[in-house]
Amino acid sequence: MSPTAAGPYAPPAAVLCGLAGWVPSRVVTNEHLARRLDTDDAWIRTRTGIRRRHVVDPGQSTSDLAVEAGRRALAAAATERVDAVVVATTTPDHNCPATAPAVAARLGLTGTAAFDIGAVCTGFVYGLASAAGLIAAGVAERVLLIGADTYSTIVDPLDRANAIIFGDGAGAVVLRAGHPDEPGAVGHFDLGSDGAHEDLIMVAAGGSRQRSRPGEPSRQDRHFAMRGKEVYRHALTRMAESARATLSRAGWKIDDVDHFVPHQANLRILHSVADDLGLPRERCVTHVESVGNTGAASIPLALADAAARQALRPGDRLLLTAFGGGLTWGSCLLTWPTLPASAHLYEQPAHPQEQPTHLYDQWALLYDQGERTTS
Ligand code: UT7
Repeated sequence: MSPTAAGPYAPPAAVLCGLAGWVPSRVVTNEHLARRLDTDDAWIRTRTGIRRRHVVDPGQSTSDLAVEAGRRALAAAATERVDAVVVATTTPDHNCPATAPAVAARLGLTGTAAFDIGAVCTGFVYGLASAAGLIAAGVAERVLLIGADTYSTIVDPLDRANAIIFGDGAGAVVLRAGHPDEPGAVGHFDLGSDGAHEDLIMVAAGGSRQRSRPGEPSRQDRHFAMRGKEVYRHALTRMAESARATLSRAGWKIDDVDHFVPHQANLRILHSVADDLGLPRERCVTHVESVGNTGAASIPLALADAAARQALRPGDRLLLTAFGGGLTWGSCLLTWPTLPASAHLYEQPAHPQEQPTHLYDQWALLYDQGERTTS
């Protein structure tokens, strides 16, 4: 930051140079869910916009998805080396250690700095800020940032309120050191949190709080819980505030935004935030319809999907805004760069498996049996 003879020092910016998204092949449609749960396709589509979501197979984990997305992002950036691997996730492979070192090792990046970010659905935007910080501080010249989540491993398959919303997936970007004014430079961050509302989105058991109490956790405490209506209200307010704060920091007007890329929580929320900001809904990038809410993966997956559809042109101005458990929220701006053509921007299996004995059914059967045995 110190001034030099050549003028004020500008630290390097993080510039997007590779992007990829990956979802597992197993599909759970609204009709699948309606066979097990007291719900129906019309309710789910009207309240959330979601038609289907992808879920991992038994035995697959978050790092498996992260590795697939990470490998493709590195290939898209035409590089094999980075100086840091950052994984944003709420569903790490283990409570200890972090998932990023294992992902780095499987990508042939043993020895590279690697750590996780836990900011729930805001994790990818927090991750962008962290990667930008590593690059600005000269700690890293290239960072692989992956948002990956397998919510199907923490959502109770019999909980109709949450089982309909979430899906599994991973999205990854490679960021390199560059100039703050060049296309692809990520900047003008706004990040925030409000831990007074931590109970609105929570897995109560599994951490030190629960372990320091006597007794086995209940089934409810072992699973993901969300007070949907209240979360909805906070999401609308915080996303709109964060988006406005970011635009004002950059001196952008709302009309300067070509694409608003929000965390894909629920189509109604995305459209309401766009309406509140005065943005035409066509400028709101949505992907939630075909993959559900994929947590920390949702923004990079939405970007990869839009890029694969050639909906993003070099020079387009993007506003990214996220909101999630914590509560946490965050936004940043980005001018779309010219990315090399890649077959791996977004990989949705050509012939996804749609089997009636999908994971949710298997779990539901297990739980049914468990309940019968114990009663
Ligand atoms: O990613 C982090 C951020 N997450 C979010 O931002 C999610 C925010 N919340 C939401 O997206 C919405 O609140 C939900 C989609 C979770 C729920 O939609 P809602 O319009 O808020 O519904 P509700 O919870 O108020 O429920 C309305 C009714 C209830 O019945 P009663 O009490 O009115 O008789 C629910 O029991 O709908 C019932 N319901 C369902 N009905 C059919 C709840 N889930 C279902 C379901 N199918 N799956």
